Amino acid sequence: MVAATMLRPPCCRFLPPRRASSSAAAAAGPARRLLLSTPIFYANGPPHIGHLYSALLADALHRYRGLRGAGPGRLSTGTDEHGLKIQQAAAAAGTSPPELCERISALFRHALTQAAVSFTDFIRTSEPRHRRAVQHFWGRLRDGGALYRGSYEGWYCTPEECFLPGSQLADSRDAQGRPCKVSLESGHQVHWTREDNYMFKLSTFREPLRRWLQDNPEAICPQSFHQRVLHWLEEELPDLSVSRERSRLPWGIPVPGDSTQTIYVWVDALVNYLSVLGYPETHGEWWPAAHHVVGKDILKFHALYWPALLLAAGLAPPEKILVHSHWTVHGQKMSKSLGNVIDPMACMQQFTLDGFRYFLLRQGVPERDCDYYEEKVVKVVNSELADALGGLLNRSTALSINPTSTYPCFSESCFPKLDDGVPRTDGRASAEDYELVASVASLPLQVATAFEAFQIYKALECITLCVRQTNGFFQRHQPWKLNRDDPSEQLWLDTILHVTLECLRIFGTLLQPVVPHTADRLLSRLAVRPEERTLVGLTFLPRYHGQPCPFEGRLLGPSTGLLFQKLEKSLQHQTGTQKL
Ligand code: ME8
Ligand code: MG
Repeated sequence: MVAATMLRPPCCRFLPPRRASSSAAAAAGPARRLLLSTPIFYANGPPHIGHLYSALLADALHRYRGLRGAGPGRLSTGTDEHGLKIQQAAAAAGTSPPELCERISALFRHALTQAAVSFTDFIRTSEPRHRRAVQHFWGRLRDGGALYRGSYEGWYCTPEECFLPGSQLADSRDAQGRPCKVSLESGHQVHWTREDNYMFKLSTFREPLRRWLQDNPEAICPQSFHQRVLHWLEEELPDLSVSRERSRLPWGIPVPGDSTQTIYVWVDALVNYLSVLGYPETHGEWWPAAHHVVGKDILKFHALYWPALLLAAGLAPPEKILVHSHWTVHGQKMSKSLGNVIDPMACMQQFTLDGFRYFLLRQGVPERDCDYYEEKVVKVVNSELADALGGLLNRSTALSINPTSTYPCFSESCFPKLDDGVPRTDGRASAEDYELVASVASLPLQVATAFEAFQIYKALECITLCVRQTNGFFQRHQPWKLNRDDPSEQLWLDTILHVTLECLRIFGTLLQPVVPHTADRLLSRLAVRPEERTLVGLTFLPRYHGQPCPFEGRLLGPSTGLLFQKLEKSLQHQTGTQKL
């Protein structure tokens, strides 16, 4: 212990705590509009946790912007309802495409609403406003000379709704054991397709796309995906078939002026990001201030086709494409055929809404695939939300320790301000206590940086570390052993509680984008009013800086029981363990 203390550099570990307000404001930047979007999900099957994950990432970013007062924001989501895939799914289900889409779209809307995804628009590509936008967009492509009639043949992958080059294929056998070709990426069978259609001059956009990515090195985030796209652009881009024969694909938007052709479902789908902005009338107030959250499976469509189409239609590429990897289940790809698709509604029921939101956003790392299994959810949520955070609130607000249930007072004599960065020894605070205060003071900026870099998991990791540090502080000083009847002990006891509640207030404020209900309960218990919950002007421990604290002496909010009830492992799992 002594050796460790001596190894510390003399002062640099004890940086003066920074005012949370100044750092948050510095990170906020000027107010401006921003559209955040999720992919629009195929209406061919019910939602799974991968879909929810995309939506939660976008939701957390959207809520975070709101807390920072970053300017008007929208969050769009919806369903992708046209194309061969939907047409075939409807046929297989013995229903019509509109009926299937109606039903599945409602499931998505319901699941996202249940998950508290704060979308401002839910678009369905079967809506008239979208059809108008797509047809107008097509007209812009045509008038700009980006389209030509051609005939195309190649291997078509219906689940991915695209033609694949030979390099993307592998030999395999179909269900009857006959030789066939499959997509390397998705493993789905491809079919040779030949037809007359409209082609988009994608090949002429290779240089403009490279320039766009070179001039905007943060356009695709994380960096690894930006590099991947630049790598794709080292090779020639083939032109893209952008329509299908209507006789084969009646379920879609017809090509304006050519009723024998249906617009390719990916062109149709991508335009949703403009439809929600009122294209072609009002999109200019927002576009190109758009950040698209997408899975890595649809990177090519968003990072190559979409910007090229936009440029061809006289519009700028989107500002950012935020890419995430995939959830696997017990190490396996999630798929209907494997029967391991995880239902987000069941998860929210089992782990609670906030519990599941927390798990996905805490454990999901955009750069790499993440594995889902129940024990992991229970472990992460119980240790971080129920025990560390909930336990701290419970212990620091207990009647036995705070009989008047008021926000306790801070005493400068117990916790004097650092003297030139050096801890004072005349108070009762220890070196570790100064470290805690410095960590929590810098937390808003750390969280801002993490959100900015699309690393929400990192923001949660930083918060969790601070929660742990605060628990250490509380444990170290054992405030329950201090005697309230002794005036000097009482000052110190109140100071310990004040510092703890101030830390909790920061945690609650910063957790709002991820666990909105739990954060609300926490902040309500601390008597933090709605207008005091934003990141604008957020202060931490102002009394330490000799400034007034508006909370001091305020009556705490009513106790509503445990902040977060510990999760139980499912019955199935319990039986499993009992057998062992
Ligand atoms: O591709 N893990 O729709 P889709 C994480 N309609 N996220 C996953 C995932 C997994 N295992 N599986 C899917 C489409 N996703 C098109 C999009 S946008 C103009 C059109 C998420 O229903 C991820 O975001 O197949 C992926 O990109 C999206 O769901 C694909 O959903
Ligand atoms: Mg898909």
